[in-house]
Amino acid sequence: MNTADFISRKTSETIINASYTWQTPSNIALVKYWGKSEPQIPKNASISFTLNNCHTITTIDFEKITATTSKKEKAIFELFFEGKKKDDFKPKIAKFFERIQEYCPYILDYKMIISSENSFPHSSGIASSASGMSAIAMCLLSLEKALNPSLTADFIHKKASFLARLGSGSASRSIEGKLVVWGKHPQIEGSSDLFAVKFPYKIHPIFDNYCDTILLVDKGEKQVSSTVGHNLMHEHPYAEQRFIQANENLSKLTDILQNGNIKEFINLVESEALTLHAMMLTSNPYFILMKPNTLEVINKIWEYRTENNSNICFTLDAGANVHVLYPENEKKDVELFIKNNLAEYCQKNQYITDVVGLGAKQIIA
Ligand code: DP6
Repeated sequence: MNTADFISRKTSETIINASYTWQTPSNIALVKYWGKSEPQIPKNASISFTLNNCHTITTIDFEKITATTSKKEKAIFELFFEGKKKDDFKPKIAKFFERIQEYCPYILDYKMIISSENSFPHSSGIASSASGMSAIAMCLLSLEKALNPSLTADFIHKKASFLARLGSGSASRSIEGKLVVWGKHPQIEGSSDLFAVKFPYKIHPIFDNYCDTILLVDKGEKQVSSTVGHNLMHEHPYAEQRFIQANENLSKLTDILQNGNIKEFINLVESEALTLHAMMLTSNPYFILMKPNTLEVINKIWEYRTENNSNICFTLDAGANVHVLYPENEKKDVELFIKNNLAEYCQKNQYITDVVGLGAKQIIA
C-alpha cells in the first residue's frame, strides 16, 4: 500500500452527530526507533510489545458544521484532559490534524470535542504520545467507517496506524497487539515504513503474557523531547551504523521470538536499551538520561538474574524509568523481588505492573 491508498474519497452516508470512545495502549520497544526523516519515516525498523494496563481513553464528539458556516480550512476542535480544558496540548494536536487532513478531509466538516484520560499518572515520565495519538486515530476511523461502511477491519487498522504515525512514530505500534513491527524489513512480511503490522509469525509460548513492570525512577518531564532526540541522529557520527545494527537486531529477534531462546532475547533487548542511551551520550549536544537509581536498578537486576538463574531483564525508553521484563512463569518471584529490592529506587516507591496486551479496544457506552 502507498500513501495515496489512505486518502478517503467517497462517503456514502451522512452523519450529523456522532461520538466514539477508544482505549488504546502504550507500548515498549524491544528494538528501538531512534532517527527519522520527513514525513515521519523511520530510519530503521522497530518492534514493540503492546502493553495492557498503561493506556489512554479518548472520546471524540463530532458535530457537523452547518451549511451556513462556510467549510473551514483547519480542523476545529476543543481539548479536555482529565476533565479540564487543556490548551497547552492544542498546538501538537492542531499540527497532527494539519498533517492528516489530506487523508481525512471529512474532519473539516465537523467540530470535534476531544476528551482524554490516561490510566497512568500524568507526570510519571511515561510517554503518553503513543497511546494518545493512537486513540485519536481510532476515533477518526470510527467516523470514517460510519461515513463509508465498506471499509474492512484490516484497512481500518492500517489506516489508524498510518495516521497515528503522523502524530508520533511509536504511536503507529499502539493499534494492535501483542508484538508489532513498524518499518520496512526484509524478513517481516507485509512490513512498511508507513504503518505498523502485527508480528506475522508464530510466537514461542515463553513470550505469552510476558510481564513488564515499569519502575518510576524519575517522574519528571522528559529532559529531551522526542523531536530533539530524533534530530540528534541527523549529524550523528554513529548513526548509519546504528540503523544497520537495529535492522540486524530485528532479524535476530525475529528468529528468537519463534525459537524461544530467552538468553539471546535478554542479551539483545538490554543491548538495544543501552545503545539507545549510547546514541544520546555520543550526540552533540549530549545527554545523560539515566539517573543514579537507573544504574542501581540495572545492577540489582543483573545480580538477581545471576543468583537466581532468572530470565529477568530490562529495557529503557528515552528517560530514566526502567521497564523490567520477565516471563509469566517467574511472575511471583520477580514481583516479590521488585517490591522488596527495587521499589526503594523509585520515586515515592511507585511502579506500574503491566503485561503484554492486545491493542485498541472500542468502549461502547
Ligand atoms: C525511545 O515516537 O516519541 O521510545 O515520532 O517524534 O513522536 P516521535 O517520537 P517517539 O519516539 C520514540 C522513541 C523511543 C523508542 C521507540 O519507542 O521505538
